[in-house]
Amino acid sequence: MVILRRRLHLAVFFSAAFIIASSARSLAQANSASNSGCKPDTFTTEEDQKNMMQQLGIRSMRPGPSGDERAPNHANYDEAKANPFSNVPDALTMNNGQKVNTPEMWQKRRAEIVEGFECCVYGRVPKNVPKVTWSVTTVDHEFIGFTPVVAKEVIGHPDNSGCPDINVNIRMIVVTPMNAKGPVPLLIMFGPAAFPSPNQPSQEEFGRINAAMKALLIQQDPSLKEVFAQHPAYALQTPRPFFQRPELNEDGDPPNAWELVADGWGFALLDPTTVQADNGAGLTRGIIGLTNHGQPRTPEQWGALRAWAWGASRALDYLETDSAVNAKQVGIDGVSRYGKAALITSAFDPRFAAVLVGSSGKGGATLLRRNWGEAVESLAGGEYHWMAGNFMKYGAADATFPTKNASDIPVDSNELIALTAPRLTFISYGVPEKGDAKWLDHKGSFMATVLANPVWPLLGAKGLVPLNGYTPDNMPPVNTSILDGQLGWRQHDGGHTDAPNMKYFIEWADKFFGKPSVYHNIH
Ligand code: GCU
Repeated sequence: MVILRRRLHLAVFFSAAFIIASSARSLAQANSASNSGCKPDTFTTEEDQKNMMQQLGIRSMRPGPSGDERAPNHANYDEAKANPFSNVPDALTMNNGQKVNTPEMWQKRRAEIVEGFECCVYGRVPKNVPKVTWSVTTVDHEFIGFTPVVAKEVIGHPDNSGCPDINVNIRMIVVTPMNAKGPVPLLIMFGPAAFPSPNQPSQEEFGRINAAMKALLIQQDPSLKEVFAQHPAYALQTPRPFFQRPELNEDGDPPNAWELVADGWGFALLDPTTVQADNGAGLTRGIIGLTNHGQPRTPEQWGALRAWAWGASRALDYLETDSAVNAKQVGIDGVSRYGKAALITSAFDPRFAAVLVGSSGKGGATLLRRNWGEAVESLAGGEYHWMAGNFMKYGAADATFPTKNASDIPVDSNELIALTAPRLTFISYGVPEKGDAKWLDHKGSFMATVLANPVWPLLGAKGLVPLNGYTPDNMPPVNTSILDGQLGWRQHDGGHTDAPNMKYFIEWADKFFGKPSVYHNIH
């Protein structure tokens, strides 16, 4: 029965997929069809992926390598085989071969690089993406450590009048120090968005809450009256201690949020999954689905990473209206997949003054053309929803077009990093021994950073300084800061986190923002 139903389901899906796939153009027309026809599709991830493969003319995908080193198809960790392609594109050479040697020419080159990432890697943001309205829904006065802060829940609502069945509410918590003398620098951190330290009722209010709760319980179970009478001081709700010692990082430091507010920064917690779900099934929902009126993507459209980056840009739109924040000093931060999203945010939106890119790996800081750990196939297949549909072409095994691989991608990660020049860009990693997997390719990320480096001096900034002769084959040792210029590198001795690098980031950004820092000469 289950099998039958499944078959029927598949049959319905395949005929639906065929109709959809028969013409990408008619799909695009359907996407811009009138509002009344908005009926969100309910594809599974597998169905959505198949649909995109059909649109692209792909019959099967090459599987990505295994992360398990004992598996026969495990990822490559042999440096002799790690650089199979010699055609890593140069950020400072135009597509027609001309060298870029002035800031004016860089603007033209920049546009070429943006086009490469939009067409073929992360995808384009459609022109008809709905306008977002932000509203402050809750204002709380809290303490983070000993620092009084204002914590606001701010919700961004994209106009869904064209498709009421898809309701997107971008969730962000904005926290700023209360006794700041003026607008503060602020770091947006991708991740869950909850109030960091909710304000609590007073003793007297706790007393009233307890009395009311006891009365309710007695209504439910009258025998409890006796119990409460015997223990008159027993409270159902008790205040938590005013000062709570935070859970310290492996390196003994307090959490990122504590370090930021202690130095006079604000921070915002932005939940990417409220912009776009982290799976293929969600692509006909979230901001991508809303813009497409519930229909599947066309191949050049944005994937989840670009949607998360777009969400951060909309968050910055809000911050530009918040008088507690210096919108000219807003940074973006994330780790792992959110590290990729943070780099993409800063690359595409020059209003961001700084980025802290945590352990971002493939699709982030490391070269797409490197063959080390996670591969292009891993992103094109398993995590296809992060990318534009077009990216799947580079992982196709059997298709209506000749096979393509990483060397056919028009751009590479050195150019993604370059798009953030001359602004503040900190590439951060930990070490494999503590859990920042080899899979992430630390060396390939340093290669890309070094390759991107010349764009900073071209634009009048300092790049990686002091390089002290370090090269990808002679990597900077762990816990060595290369942070004297606006392009920074530091591999800390912790795991898959950016926390041990946060105080280095703060001190470095403070210096370039011309702001005094509580973190002095820590490296
Ligand atoms: C996997 C994936 C990475 C990703 C990471 C994460 O390891 O292969 O690309 O960065 O998950 O986000 O946790």
